[in-house]
Amino acid sequence: MIVTTAQLFKVAYGRFAVGAYNINNLEQTRGLFQGNIDSKAPFIIQISKGARKYAGVKMLEGMIRAAQEEFPAAVFAVHIDHGDEATCYDAIDSGFYSSVMIDASHEPFEKNIEITRRIVERAHAKGLSVEAELGMLGGVEEDIAVDEGSAFLTDPDQAVEFVERTGCDSLAVAIGTSHGAYKFKGAQGVRFDRLAQIQAKLPGFPLVMHGSSSVPAEEVARINAAGGKIDPSAKGVNEDDFAKAVPLGVTKVNIDTDGRLVWTRVHREYFRDHPEQFDFRKPGEVFMKEYAAFIAHKNEKLGSAGKLDLVMKELGL
Ligand code: G3H
Ligand code: 13P
Ligand code: ZN
Repeated sequence: MIVTTAQLFKVAYGRFAVGAYNINNLEQTRGLFQGNIDSKAPFIIQISKGARKYAGVKMLEGMIRAAQEEFPAAVFAVHIDHGDEATCYDAIDSGFYSSVMIDASHEPFEKNIEITRRIVERAHAKGLSVEAELGMLGGVEEDIAVDEGSAFLTDPDQAVEFVERTGCDSLAVAIGTSHGAYKFKGAQGVRFDRLAQIQAKLPGFPLVMHGSSSVPAEEVARINAAGGKIDPSAKGVNEDDFAKAVPLGVTKVNIDTDGRLVWTRVHREYFRDHPEQFDFRKPGEVFMKEYAAFIAHKNEKLGSAGKLDLVMKELGL
């Protein structure tokens, strides 16, 4: 059943975080539903502009609708990840999505408010919830490169004003994470001090953590042992940090890169070990199983595993 992110956050706040996973193809979609059903977790399907371009808007919708029929017990939101204004309007008018993220974080404060406010009006009129972003993550955000040095954290006072003036339902905050496989160097990590300051000013308001892949060293090593060339300095968020972020208001945790690493490792190892093979369904089957197990593992760390019944009960589904 498709629900809004706002509905999920009402149940999740202070208790667990909902995993938000990007999809681009059939194998990810099937593995995603299987993993969430296996771990009895609510979840958020994220669709980026890149995914819409790669798989096609209609194909993505068709895959999700088919998965919904195959996994009738699934409870999830369908969400635009890092949308611009045009993509958000398209999603709002499609009648399929239950939630959008408008990412105008690269704009000056007033312009970010103005754009976000317009999306909120259109989305709320049609029953969708809206995630917005304030502050800037380091690394690469869609096609906008943000210099690591100029990446700036969300200002807690600005966050209060932003939420009040836009009416958004949740806020993506910049707390030291970044997209991709190279988030931290040395002792760097999630800025819990800043997260706590933001939550103190916005108690009860759902916060979103982007760039939350953990980039396991073992996964990078296996990829490289099978012919990959990922810089071994790749480093992500400690999975045990999710449990620390939940009491500080984080209700949505975005994970994409780690899933790509699973795909890359499975396919590299498969073709290394079976160089005579050319039937892509064979590694595809392995990937779907591994991806489902990966999702179930993440849900355990997020605390969303086993929460499906609670969500159904509290939302009256
Ligand atoms: O934040 C970005 C997500 O990982 C989606 O990545 O734009 O390459 O699909 P993408
Ligand atoms: P990762 O690159 O850490 O998986 O972050 C994904 C993300 O934030 C999608 O919006
Ligand atoms: Zn993101």
